[in-house]
Amino acid sequence: MTSGVTQPTDIREVAVIGLGLMGSGIAELVARSGRRVDAIEIDRSALDQGMARLHASLDRAVSRGKLTDTARDEALARIRPTDDVPAGVADADLVIEAIPERMELKRSLFAQLDEACRADAILATNTSSLSITEIAGGTRYPGRVAGLHFFNPAPAMKLVEVVSTVLTAPEITETLTLLSRDLGKTPVGATDRAGFIVNALLVPYLNHAVHLLETGQATREDIDKAVAAGLGLPMGPLTLLDLIGLDTCLAVLETLHDEFGGTRYRHAPLLRKLCDARLFGRKSGRGFYDYRRPSTAADHELAPVPDEVAVIRDSSGLLDELADSISAADIRVVPEPSDQTGLVIVAAVPRHRVLDAALAAGHPADVVGAHIIETLAGKLRLAELVLPDVTAAGTAAKAAALAARIKLKAVISRDRPGFLLEALAYAQFNDAVRMVQDGYASSADIDTAMMLGCGYPCGPLQMLDEAGAANVVAVLDAMHAATGDPAFTPVPLLAEYATAGNLFRAEAGG
Ligand code: 3HC
Repeated sequence: MTSGVTQPTDIREVAVIGLGLMGSGIAELVARSGRRVDAIEIDRSALDQGMARLHASLDRAVSRGKLTDTARDEALARIRPTDDVPAGVADADLVIEAIPERMELKRSLFAQLDEACRADAILATNTSSLSITEIAGGTRYPGRVAGLHFFNPAPAMKLVEVVSTVLTAPEITETLTLLSRDLGKTPVGATDRAGFIVNALLVPYLNHAVHLLETGQATREDIDKAVAAGLGLPMGPLTLLDLIGLDTCLAVLETLHDEFGGTRYRHAPLLRKLCDARLFGRKSGRGFYDYRRPSTAADHELAPVPDEVAVIRDSSGLLDELADSISAADIRVVPEPSDQTGLVIVAAVPRHRVLDAALAAGHPADVVGAHIIETLAGKLRLAELVLPDVTAAGTAAKAAALAARIKLKAVISRDRPGFLLEALAYAQFNDAVRMVQDGYASSADIDTAMMLGCGYPCGPLQMLDEAGAANVVAVLDAMHAATGDPAFTPVPLLAEYATAGNLFRAEAGG
């Protein structure tokens, strides 16, 4: 049995068990750090696929100038693929398990490791959805078992969650923390709670996006574009679901639901249906998008742009820039709708329905609300074009044609509080505050985890501070009132900060 902190330099031989999406990435990462890797997969065809993925990823790094040919060949030479678990783990200083997320499989594997590993080997699991305590509890030395949770793609994402159970020996946690740094990652410590930090925030948000798609709030492309462009994320939620794997996300949601209950973690029926259909995302060739054939999204024809557009400006000046852009494209802009008006634009605010402004403006069938999302520098980033349900069938197409003519990056949303961006983002910010409120993670750790694990340009709590807690509360209240879903109730700490004007990331200057 281990005692004392093992230094990363003493971890020279690592066994990675399970060569799926995560396991092959982890094996690549470890081999590139100079360590020998036993890449173990009991299914021969999965072993071949995993090794092929690993080769392709190393080749990609070479072609991008990140790795020399020699370094690639040396990394490959350090990897021994095998389907023999006992032989593969026999000399390992560290075992990293990344097999399918089924407790009975993990428990039987860990029982096998008890017999086959050295008594001083460290046993880590990359599980994203199962209780590490339960896995450890079935082993002979539970003190040496911990979570080492990587993010997809493992070679690229900088975060590792080092998860300790009540049984994990502190020196094991310390060793894994040091090792993570040695692998070029930033470790964030977490205790064994469903979803740890990142998945508990990310997966409900991804599920929320599926719900918006399923209920016709917007197209898959517009849901993705709204969040990616609006928050500056590397990819939208449905694309990210396809990257992670829909089955993996469903498993995480089920664990969150088992542990916390409530409506926030109830899976969208569409997510289950796609899993039942084995449309798991990229790894199976199709999920929300089809990766087997090129997209034809750009092929459709746009509707004619109206000759006259009424822009109902208000004292806030929110639509001034938009009106100027429309005029500059030689389209007549009028302050009130006339008989010639083809489209009426009103200012849309995520905490209010557009419908009321549409009725006030007259011509509700031709009305589109415009919610302009600006960067901090005041540069226009994205417009949400919001359509009340009373809008005529062709209005969305006219609005899309207008946006294309004036080169405005736009998405189209139904008229529901929060529209797309704020509905998805603010519900996640609320979850992040709940985590702080529960004392599970600090604001700084949450922000670091989401930046390094998911490529956020800044963390959710910093974004919340920038949006203003009072504004976030107002939008969440409107979402709650419109849906009756208690998941959108602002958590008490958020409501308190909104009232007091406090910042979650005061130390981050923002
Ligand atoms: N394997 C290895 N490296 C990869 C890679 C892959 N499959 N894909 C991208 N990379 C590396 C590239 O080599 C590049 O590295 P460099 O900066 O050193 O040159 C870097 O990532 C950026 O790659 P690209 O320029 O080709 O592509 P993008 O800029 O489009 O980035 C992305 C791709 C890194 C996947 C980016 O879109 C991203 O960060 N997306 C968010 C991913 C995310 O949120 N992951 C977490 C999911 S949650 C999870 O995994 C937990 C689980 O339990 C569910």
